Amino acid sequence: MGLPEERSRSGSGSGAREEARARNPVRSWSPPPEVSRSAHVPSLQRYRELHRRSLEEPREFWGDIAKEFYWKTPCPGPFLQYNFDVTKGKIFIEWMKGATTNICYNVLDRIVHEKKLGDKVAFYWEGNEPEETTQITYQELLVQVCRFSNVLRKQGICKGDRVAIYMPMIPELVVAMLACARLGALHSIVFAGFSSESLCERILDSNCSLLITTDAFYRGEKLVNLKELADETLEKCQEKGFPVKCCIVVKHLGRAELGTGDSPSQSPPIKRPCPDVQGKPKEKPKHIRPQVSTSALPWALLSCMLVCLSNCSLPVRPIEISWNEGVDLWWHELMQKAGDECEPEWCDAEDPLFILYTSGSTGKPKGVVHTVGGYMLYVATTFKYVFDFHAEDVFWCTADIGWITGHSYVTYGPLANGATSVLFEGIPTYPDVSRLWNIVEKYKVTKFYTAPTAIRLLMKFGDEPVTKHSRASLQVLGTVGEPINPEAWLWYHQVVGAQRCPIVDTFWQTETGGHMLTPLPGAIPMKPGSATFPFFGVAPAILNESGEELEGEAEGYLVFKQPWPGIMRTVYGNHERFETTYFKKFPGYYVTGDGCRRDKDGYYWITGRIDDMLNVSGHLLSTAEVESALVEHKAVAEAAVVGHPHPVKGECLYCFVTLCDGHIFSPALTEELKKQIREKIGPIATPDYIQNAPGLPKTRSGKIMRRVLRKIAQNDHDLGDTSTIVDPSIITQLFSHRCLTI
Ligand code: WT7
Repeated sequence: MGLPEERSRSGSGSGAREEARARNPVRSWSPPPEVSRSAHVPSLQRYRELHRRSLEEPREFWGDIAKEFYWKTPCPGPFLQYNFDVTKGKIFIEWMKGATTNICYNVLDRIVHEKKLGDKVAFYWEGNEPEETTQITYQELLVQVCRFSNVLRKQGICKGDRVAIYMPMIPELVVAMLACARLGALHSIVFAGFSSESLCERILDSNCSLLITTDAFYRGEKLVNLKELADETLEKCQEKGFPVKCCIVVKHLGRAELGTGDSPSQSPPIKRPCPDVQGKPKEKPKHIRPQVSTSALPWALLSCMLVCLSNCSLPVRPIEISWNEGVDLWWHELMQKAGDECEPEWCDAEDPLFILYTSGSTGKPKGVVHTVGGYMLYVATTFKYVFDFHAEDVFWCTADIGWITGHSYVTYGPLANGATSVLFEGIPTYPDVSRLWNIVEKYKVTKFYTAPTAIRLLMKFGDEPVTKHSRASLQVLGTVGEPINPEAWLWYHQVVGAQRCPIVDTFWQTETGGHMLTPLPGAIPMKPGSATFPFFGVAPAILNESGEELEGEAEGYLVFKQPWPGIMRTVYGNHERFETTYFKKFPGYYVTGDGCRRDKDGYYWITGRIDDMLNVSGHLLSTAEVESALVEHKAVAEAAVVGHPHPVKGECLYCFVTLCDGHIFSPALTEELKKQIREKIGPIATPDYIQNAPGLPKTRSGKIMRRVLRKIAQNDHDLGDTSTIVDPSIITQLFSHRCLTI
């Protein structure tokens, strides 16, 4: 294919690496033969054959994959039916409609009973504190999920009900989501970094009848009183006339307060070495009872944590939470009384599996709906091929389950393959900046998946925190969330992966369910910054403004021409919004909202969003939602928000605010506005810059010219055509008011 190739695998010492980096030579990097040899897809040619077949014969291609799974009843009619063209009627996509199955059964019971992997570790759990660890096998996870399914059933949860989940990265989060799936109830997981207001909005949008949350947790050194936020949320729901009747609370931070005596203890205790905390004297455990049940994870978990906490003399952190009698229920009390077995609810392949909210350009989040059958096939298959999964792998995706990456590649994808994964509660910089590599070494992680923002953050601290840990186990590195700049790609490749490991730069969206454009580690030569080629079943095209498909080298709108099994099916409660957002602009295509370039070798390069969305640290935010949080402040008359380049976050928020008469722009006001945004949306939306704007550049029809504001933020005076601005004098004023520092 005439790829200009320059390998960079020659130098091994750090001097050579520095030199290689300085020369920045990697235009393309081919998988080493030893990687290709054992890979599921060992060559570019094989990739091309499989990809062609997946597009020409989607029914047969996915039909073969479906045979790996358990179906209670087979597909009675056509394997795939769809309409992608709004001009021909309602948009719909149906894979295997009429077949019945259960995804929880497929990722747990099938793995335990058919694959006989009950004793295999499903998750190594690593807490915020390095000393807090536990593990859970497939069999143990199955028992926990059955118990919690019975708990939910007892609370009246039935197929089709919506359950909101607001939890940190603890094993009970996985248990809760799979229990919902077992009952055919839709989980709606809200990232625990979102505000109570955001949670309330999401609960109301999908009428969730139950909330599952946690007392509190630590994120690095920061204590998050999650129950307090949940209480605020339920109060707000009540005020808005929608009382949530039940709130189940996991005692996580307060685990140490619980003995293990009330655990349903049938099995021997889990023995686990507790690593010493350097320099801290060990104390004898005070109030531990040694009996732990391996069949009851929370108890095993809490007990082991208790042992660790006590041995390592970490402070016991009692936390007081308020309790609403008649609404709040303790997870551990309910679990104690629940049975170990639970018949799954058999669902149609096209029944909804979950709702996950993503920012929408109107400012109101969209409830993306994924379904049981297609999502299962797609996440299982992408996981297998993109990470080239093999039975002995230890996989680690650092994403929070509150995002789609966590849904697909912490929970469903790995479990569907019977994989062992790491489940990490903490952050990359706590207790220090080598935490990720410490974990890689500790669990001998083979496949590692993270975000460019994390790579850029860690790069700043140099190579030593990485190289002091062995990364010999690593085989494949992955990234997701935003375009990765070549500099970060090279550091990841050269320092973290010691120039041995392929990097899979996976482009996809909440809406797509799984990877869309991505290298396959053994087959596709990589170019730093390019997501390379489409995954099986994916037919990308690049369109110009008039909707014409561009051939060869081109740049334009990235769209997809035919459905893949993991595509979302609707926006919860608003099918019209689904059609308008993704199918109206270019009839016949799914429109991603991203710009994209195809180079002369056919490689795809995402150039970024071409709508009013911002990508902050790999998370999408809409300008509209931040603007509406700003104008809710009494001092703000009008606001406009644009994206601004940021060395770690990729993009950060730069806000222009016009104040109401009688209000003065001051540092105190800026802080108030930041706080307001944190409270309305969550900490991820905290702006880096807030600028006083005596006026905003507008067109005659009143449209704010964000294009101009982006330039002003960057002090770029090359504004392009400004003839349509009603009051051009505003521009000079805005330049003089620019924020200079963060
Ligand atoms: C948007 C989707 C998919 C999980 C994480 C984000 C951007 C995502 C890449 C990548 C360039 C990327 C796109 C996309 N994006 N991955 N590898 N290269 N851009 O999910 O919040 O739904 O955001 O993230 O702009 O549309 P999301």
